[in-house]
Amino acid sequence: MKIAILGGTGSIGEGFALRWASKHDIVVCSRDVDKAIKAADDYSNLLLSKGTLCCGITGCTNETAIQDVDVVVLSVPYKGMVPLLEKLKPFFKDQIVISMVVPMAKNDKFEYTPPEQGSAALEIKSVLPETVKVISAYHNISAKKLADLESTLDYDVVICGDDEDAKKTVMELTHEINNLRPLDGGGLESSYMIESLTPFLINLAIKNGLRDLGVKFL
Ligand SMILES: NC(=O)c1ccc[n+]([C@@H]2O[C@H](COP(=O)([O-])OP(=O)(O)OC[C@H]3O[C@@H](n4cnc5c(N)ncnc54)[C@H](OP(=O)(O)O)[C@@H]3O)[C@@H](O)[C@H]2O)c1
Repeated sequence: MKIAILGGTGSIGEGFALRWASKHDIVVCSRDVDKAIKAADDYSNLLLSKGTLCCGITGCTNETAIQDVDVVVLSVPYKGMVPLLEKLKPFFKDQIVISMVVPMAKNDKFEYTPPEQGSAALEIKSVLPETVKVISAYHNISAKKLADLESTLDYDVVICGDDEDAKKTVMELTHEINNLRPLDGGGLESSYMIESLTPFLINLAIKNGLRDLGVKFL
């Protein structure tokens, strides 16, 4: 598959590029083409140095990337999400869009701050054409562990979405990342539950001196 990662130069985007590049063509996307190309080169060189086979990692602007890809990963901060999607709207057709975006604010602790639609995922669905298949996943994964290829990711990933085939594709992509267990979380209306877990996990980590917390259902 061809996968474009919007925000691919950032913390969690890097991990997905590194983890999926052995089986898929990855397009690292940025607002700045030079930054995208540099990140793509850095990721390719890292995989090369580890002897990992890589289908291909290229870099380009957000606009040029998404037109001919199967999957668009949305890994940008919430505050930039709607302006970016409004700008890219004409380039969306029927791609799968995976959102891991968590709307949250830091006051005396981290708090979930959903939009009026109820969750970031539902807001994305309201902005993009109806033919786009929005899937919500990976909100509770540590970017640091994802980008560390030596790290075992012993987490569950709850995946929500209204298109069953698209959800199946994202479950398969999740299976490809070592030890991650995909779980079907139902329709997109349930996304607020997994989005809101992220600030809760961060608060738990801070209060208890823990790091890189995730979720595992036993
Ligand atoms: N970090 C984590 O552990 C983690 C875990 C789960 C979910 N998430 C979610 O994943 C998303 C990305 O998190 P992150 O930590 O990777 O963020 P980040 O590193 O701060 O940003 C990711 C990339 O987004 C782009 N960006 C920043 N501001 C933007 C704006 N206003 N408009 C358009 N693009 C913008 C930047 O790329 P360019 O400058 O190259 O355009 C940046 O490299 C967030 O929504 C977060 O809630 C993060």
